Amino acid sequence: MNIPESIDRTKLPAHIAIIMDGNGRWAKERGEDRVYGHYEGVVSVRDIVDACGAIGVGHLTLYAFSAENWNRPQAEVDALMELLVNTIRKEVDELKKNNVRLHVIGDFYSLPAICQKELNEAKEMTAMNTGLNLILALSYGSRNEIVRAAKMIAEKVAAGTMHIDDITDDTFGQHLYTSQFPDPELMIRTSGEYRISNFLLYQLAYAELYFTNVHWPDFRQQHLFEAILNYQQRERRFGKTSEQIQTIKPEHAQGTN
Ligand code: IPE
Ligand code: IPE
Ligand code: MG
Repeated sequence: MNIPESIDRTKLPAHIAIIMDGNGRWAKERGEDRVYGHYEGVVSVRDIVDACGAIGVGHLTLYAFSAENWNRPQAEVDALMELLVNTIRKEVDELKKNNVRLHVIGDFYSLPAICQKELNEAKEMTAMNTGLNLILALSYGSRNEIVRAAKMIAEKVAAGTMHIDDITDDTFGQHLYTSQFPDPELMIRTSGEYRISNFLLYQLAYAELYFTNVHWPDFRQQHLFEAILNYQQRERRFGKTSEQIQTIKPEHAQGTN
């Protein structure tokens, strides 16, 4: 694997989230059915998972199927669910071998039973892995996730097991699907659309956003590395001024002058 020297391995985004978009357009451009684009998209998934594992990224979330995607033609939904089952089945040994741990976020129980079964098995088989955390967003919708968290908290307050003053950014985050993961620091969307499409609305508050025209089935390691390099050139200010950020650079913080 050709990891560019210019990438600073000490400043990798702790969590990369990707909206894998453009499978349908990629297929149409080739005169093929949309589903062909989804099949080819799996090749990109493999490549990007390998790259993240090799470079040392801790968390990778892939938006694979949104809550809204249920509204697509039934034949496409069925093909996607079948592809999911077959891919998990085929790849789980490789994930295990590569020390990748699989997680799923989203409305898990709305997935077909066979998908749930394959995913549960794959999660179990990789549960002891300590390398890359691969998080699949499936039947995922962020508004629903936030409403769900609000309801869980309201129930606890009503039952007297949580005090209203204990509702903070942190405790709220603990009721989201992503409670065990750091917030994404880099969010990539392929295929030239500039929107979030109900993805990690709460968690992306301070993520750096990166958009590329490359369709997902063409997206490869070199494109990921370009996105990481671009991320590393940005100044993340979190509301502060540029001057404040400059003065807390590590060499100053350590007082070494
Ligand atoms: C992304 O590609 C994959 C899923 C949403 C499942 P699309 O299927 O959205 O492809 P386009 O955007 O129609 O080209
Ligand atoms: C977002 O892509 C969902 C996934 C990539 C899984 P869509 O193609 O469904 O998003 P919209 O409809 O163009 O916003
Ligand atoms: Mg799309």
